[in-house]
Amino acid sequence: MIKKLIRKNILQFQPYIPGKPIAEVKRELGLKDIIKLASNENPLGPSPKALQAVKKALKNVFLYPEGSGILLKQKIAKKLGLRPSNIILGNGSDELIETIGKTVLNPEDEIIVSADGFIRYKMAGELMGCRVITVPSKKYKHDLAGMKAAITPKTKVVFIINPNNPTGTYVTDQELSEFFQGLRDDIIVVFDEAYNEYATQKDYPQTMDYLKQGKNVIILRTFSKIYALAGLRVGYGLAGEELVSYLERVRPPFNVNSLAQVAAEVSLDDKQQIKRSLALVEKEKKKLYRELDKLSITYIPSAANFVLIDLKKEAAEICSKLLASGVIVRPMGEYKLPSCLRVTIGLPAENKRFITTLKKQL
Ligand SMILES: Cc1ncc(COP(=O)(O)O)c(C=O)c1O
Repeated sequence: MIKKLIRKNILQFQPYIPGKPIAEVKRELGLKDIIKLASNENPLGPSPKALQAVKKALKNVFLYPEGSGILLKQKIAKKLGLRPSNIILGNGSDELIETIGKTVLNPEDEIIVSADGFIRYKMAGELMGCRVITVPSKKYKHDLAGMKAAITPKTKVVFIINPNNPTGTYVTDQELSEFFQGLRDDIIVVFDEAYNEYATQKDYPQTMDYLKQGKNVIILRTFSKIYALAGLRVGYGLAGEELVSYLERVRPPFNVNSLAQVAAEVSLDDKQQIKRSLALVEKEKKKLYRELDKLSITYIPSAANFVLIDLKKEAAEICSKLLASGVIVRPMGEYKLPSCLRVTIGLPAENKRFITTLKKQL
């Protein structure tokens, strides 16, 4: 009976499987000493100044937050050379993925995503009941030429995750400029740049330029990754003013809480936080590559704070064994990469424990 009441496309819909929280593993397995390398969080934690600001703001949590988030928007705008009206704030960038879907997608529309790409885009399309075209990736990378070739008169949005989660690969400025050549201007190109701060390669594209040229793009960013505020839930989208005004119609009125707003504002000023976090990831990633090389284990070089490892055999079982030893990583079955696991770069001791445990389990 209940089934009859549910929207048709929700009947096929599968929920997102997040990285297992430490508390859940504690409860389920009765373990005490657990490390989580499963959700690409920043183990150095947030800026101390952001934590102080949160403490100060705590006494006012009886009040609703300022729904417009104007102070945070002004700060982001100043940093990026945009106007506050170019910015929409989200309860994490994740909320904005759905906001985009709810704002622009009709059931007769098509969206284009890459295979091995962050799965929430495909889910947003399915949620809205439209057709999702998944273009095979090339060597774990978005095949931009293939994605362009998949465009039909019904295509409304193309999603580019850069660097991509879970593969860590990125598309270059040259590839992107070719992609834009002759692209219809009624197609929205969404860039998910959750990990952009980690992508220090010279040929990593500056998509802000496309926005400033007036192209039909939306750039999504987040405070959950390098800024280490994942638990507070705050991200943002950048787009042309008119598009933002429509997205704002759909945004729930108080979607970003007051603590998240002040923490994000203060975090933007803490350049040391970014420097330290980047240095940790670059150093530890190289160490991890060396250890994997020694073990002759295949991995995909990553432009982000995580690495996709191909064990060349069913990875779910190894992931369960790692879990039983208190090391949470992410099996990739959900991404149709059953021989792979994804591990977040953690603190030096955590990375060492991951590799030692992996060695033991293999
Ligand atoms: C590529 C990508 N986009 C978006 C998100 C969502 O992040 P948040 O909602 O915390 O901003 C994630 C989280 O893992 C991600 O990997």
